[in-house]
Amino acid sequence: MGDYTNMSAYYDAIMTSGYYDYKSIVDNLLEHEPYQHVLEIGCGTGLILEELAKRKHVTSIMGVDLTQSMLSIAQERLSGLPNVRLSNQDVTQLTLDKQYDLVFSYGGVWYFVIDGDNEPFLVSHIPDADANEKGFEHLSKYVNHGGTLLLGIQGPHFDYEKVISNGMTYSQKIDHCEDGFIKHYYLADKGNNLMAQTVHYRTYDFASSQKLLKSHGFEYQKESHKGKLFLRFKKI
Ligand SMILES: C[S@@+](CC[C@H](N)C(=O)[O-])C[C@H]1O[C@@H](n2cnc3c(N)ncnc32)[C@H](O)[C@@H]1O
Repeated sequence: MGDYTNMSAYYDAIMTSGYYDYKSIVDNLLEHEPYQHVLEIGCGTGLILEELAKRKHVTSIMGVDLTQSMLSIAQERLSGLPNVRLSNQDVTQLTLDKQYDLVFSYGGVWYFVIDGDNEPFLVSHIPDADANEKGFEHLSKYVNHGGTLLLGIQGPHFDYEKVISNGMTYSQKIDHCEDGFIKHYYLADKGNNLMAQTVHYRTYDFASSQKLLKSHGFEYQKESHKGKLFLRFKKI
């Protein structure tokens, strides 16, 4: 489930070739309030945390990820930053030593997809329904009352191929299945396949996702999605 070992050595090259815009992600994260204690679930190679650590007011940052090879890159990237800690954990068994004001996931364990004017739907790297319950149950323990959970918004997934900044060719292919979709990621260099990774994602329609989140204390904060990179939930 959600293991990124195959992609880890190439992840940064793929993501910083226009897949995500890390400065805008952090601007959006901090748009409403100056948070002090921040937790990222599914922090990967630490690209968001590196940008976040530069910002004022953020005094402590924790990044959690399931894939050790992604975290090893994050460890190197963030080694000079005393306010950042990292932990190799699966969110479904999360154990931390404190609570946070802001918890977020962007392309990490959970995110929303908005396709045109349709309602958002939740995408989870965790294919099993009970394990998703466990994940939110554990996460909820580490968010302060009145604290914020932000889950990233992405556009729809589709099949495509493109040349990235290092000249390699990235491609992705989506297969729909009963409970979500299966996404295949590939990287090739001059026709030689370098990387293949497959992730099975579970999806929830908007009503089911709100019910799931609410049952673990996260209440949806309704606002226009226009120009936003996150949906906002308040810990009640
Ligand atoms: C697409 S990457 C996103 C990384 C980072 N947020 C970024 O924006 O670059 C998804 C990450 O979620 C992690 N992940 C998936 N399932 C997880 C789980 N159950 N617990 C913790 N991390 C998980 C993967 O290991 C991977 O590093």
